[in-house]
Amino acid sequence: MAGAYDDRDGKIWMDGQLVDWRSANVHVLTHAMHYASSVFEGERAYNGTIFLSRAHSERLHTSANLIDFEIPWSVDEIETAKQSVLEANGLTDAYVRAVAWRGAGEDMGVASARNPVRLAIAAWEWGAYYGDAKMKGAKLDISKWKRPSPETAPSQAKAAGLYMICTMSKHAAEAKGCSDAMMFDYRGYVAEATGANMFFVKDGEVHTPKPDCFLNGLTRQTVVGMLKERQIKVHERHIMPEELESFEQCWLTGTAAEVTPVGKIGDYNFEVGAIAREIAEGYEKLVRS
Ligand SMILES: Cc1ncc(COP(=O)(O)O)c(C=O)c1O
Repeated sequence: MAGAYDDRDGKIWMDGQLVDWRSANVHVLTHAMHYASSVFEGERAYNGTIFLSRAHSERLHTSANLIDFEIPWSVDEIETAKQSVLEANGLTDAYVRAVAWRGAGEDMGVASARNPVRLAIAAWEWGAYYGDAKMKGAKLDISKWKRPSPETAPSQAKAAGLYMICTMSKHAAEAKGCSDAMMFDYRGYVAEATGANMFFVKDGEVHTPKPDCFLNGLTRQTVVGMLKERQIKVHERHIMPEELESFEQCWLTGTAAEVTPVGKIGDYNFEVGAIAREIAEGYEKLVRS
């Protein structure tokens, strides 16, 4: 299965039932399309089991609450729906995308309390997010866009509106031949990439930005646990841009990115070193265990 995402064979779960892939459509006056009233999840199934499935469904609910709506399907119902999508499409190793949004309805202004909340779940085969970067290390640009303050946007929500600056950052990065962009936050601290969290190594210890204005990714939390299990010291703290020069290794974490070593951020170079490799391999084993 390949080609445009709206023109594929298969089934998509939409509002309680499996529909033909090409029929999973919405109206142009869908509130979410105009005002970003949408939240989503990115998940991966390995050998038929979605890694941290329930935590993703719970985060979907939390994200919806953070942007002021309730998903009319329980976490248990979402869990069953995700499994039915995998089965209906004959997938065991797949990326799973759940998305909930304010649909079309009585309201077409900014307020949308009268519009129905909708939910869809799709799954497809999706290989390495950064291509061959797992071996060589990804090359990152530095974005001109800053992660917003939690007083400006609900930064712990996996909400569509927060990705506008990520898309622009990633387009600028790709135009320079990079796979992604590192973003600073509104205070100027190192934050994350456009769809993944970041880790750095210096003198055998790990440093990772404190997620106080961006998503504390489930992969990030898993990797922090893996490092602690291996007795590797982890510092979750604010990281200044000038510190980038002193870090020896770097990697990204995310459901799509998994654990991807970074070789370059702007003019700063990193080696694909032993800790980065060990965590990348350890993560691969863990998600399949
Ligand atoms: C902006 C952003 N940060 C971090 C992450 C990592 O989150 P997770 O590890 O839960 O996939 C993601 C991916 O979901 C993301 O889009």
